[in-house]
Amino acid sequence: MSQSLNVLLTGGTGFLGEYLMAELLERGHNVWALFRSDSKKLDTIRFLGSLGLPRSANSLHWVKGEILDIDEHWENWCKESENLENVDTVIHSAASTRLHMDECGDPLRTNLGSAQALKKLYLRKPLTVHIISTAYVCGLVQGEIVKEVNHPRGDFLNVYEESKWESENIWQGHATFLRPSIILGHSETARCTSFSGWYILFQAAHLLDRLMQDPSSRERFELGIDIPAEPLATTNVIPVDYVAKSVIRIIENPANHKKIFHLTHPDPPNHEWTLDLVCRRFNLGGLKFVGAGAPFMQPRNRIERMAWRQMQTILLHFANNPIFDRTNTSHAVPELAVPPITEDFVNRLIDYAIEKDWGLA
Ligand SMILES: NC(=O)c1ccc[n+]([C@@H]2O[C@H](COP(=O)([O-])OP(=O)(O)OC[C@H]3O[C@@H](n4cnc5c(N)ncnc54)[C@H](OP(=O)(O)O)[C@@H]3O)[C@@H](O)[C@H]2O)c1
Repeated sequence: MSQSLNVLLTGGTGFLGEYLMAELLERGHNVWALFRSDSKKLDTIRFLGSLGLPRSANSLHWVKGEILDIDEHWENWCKESENLENVDTVIHSAASTRLHMDECGDPLRTNLGSAQALKKLYLRKPLTVHIISTAYVCGLVQGEIVKEVNHPRGDFLNVYEESKWESENIWQGHATFLRPSIILGHSETARCTSFSGWYILFQAAHLLDRLMQDPSSRERFELGIDIPAEPLATTNVIPVDYVAKSVIRIIENPANHKKIFHLTHPDPPNHEWTLDLVCRRFNLGGLKFVGAGAPFMQPRNRIERMAWRQMQTILLHFANNPIFDRTNTSHAVPELAVPPITEDFVNRLIDYAIEKDWGLA
């Protein structure tokens, strides 16, 4: 066990952030958690309580604020939050995870703005900074191996990926980059609080299943959707507990600082396996892979249009197939086994998501 760290955690009330916080406390570090909303803070306290954490009130402090103000309001925050000036480490997990631009300019506003504001503070206060990025800063890649290096600007599928690339660009050489792939619920409990990414595929299939009502109708087995992707290409997904455990163990060792780590799955599921599971689970059929680069087919009738609308977002993701090198991660945390993505696990993720009404409950 390393010396205990004094960590400012941004995004601690988020899906990954809660697990990062739990791991930090579990391993004896002191945490100052930045938060915006009292209700989110309460939810996080409840979650920590369910795990028997924190063990001492001294180890967890809360700092109310907006990440974009971190430099400008730092001195005020230090007056309001006990011993905040003792923080020596920042884990920056706060982000807008919107894929496309909204009317406030997010995700660019939050993701780029927070990288800039934190950099200003770093330039006047000694801090060791670790940035939670994404493996998809590589942009669109077809079946090639993506190394744990800084990438030139790629073709991005959405503004979110681009905003994360821009943030890395600001911090290149000054911070550790921890790059998870698509994060899934906990490998044992299936708990999840953000049903984006891979969940969209399952949610779309679930909705189609309900819209089509009659469980034995022919229509639901003849959806007639051609997917422009390779069946044996993969989607890289990774359980949240593995990500949180790796992040904290990696940053505890100063030899890892300012390096890049892919927190990705070494054996991700391929598209054929995933689609087969989805079709069996939701009684659907008539979807087939027609190879990467095939033109998107226009829906021919009402049912196809409905199916297509549900699936569109995630089908685009099927077209991006990087293979992530994990040399740095395997070297840094060789003792951490990556939980396998099994049918049983995916079914438990779906059960949990349905129980939570895909985040609406
Ligand atoms: N989820 C994935 O599949 C995935 C994959 C790869 C990388 N990542 C990265 O992992 C990190 C965590 O993602 P997540 O899935 O945990 O996202 P999340 O559940 O949406 O949590 C985002 C967190 O950021 C906070 N936040 C957002 N804007 C803020 C602002 N302006 N000021 C202060 N706090 C702000 C949110 O606070 P509130 O609670 O107040 O909203 C929340 O705590 C992000 O950096 C994301 O880019 C996620």
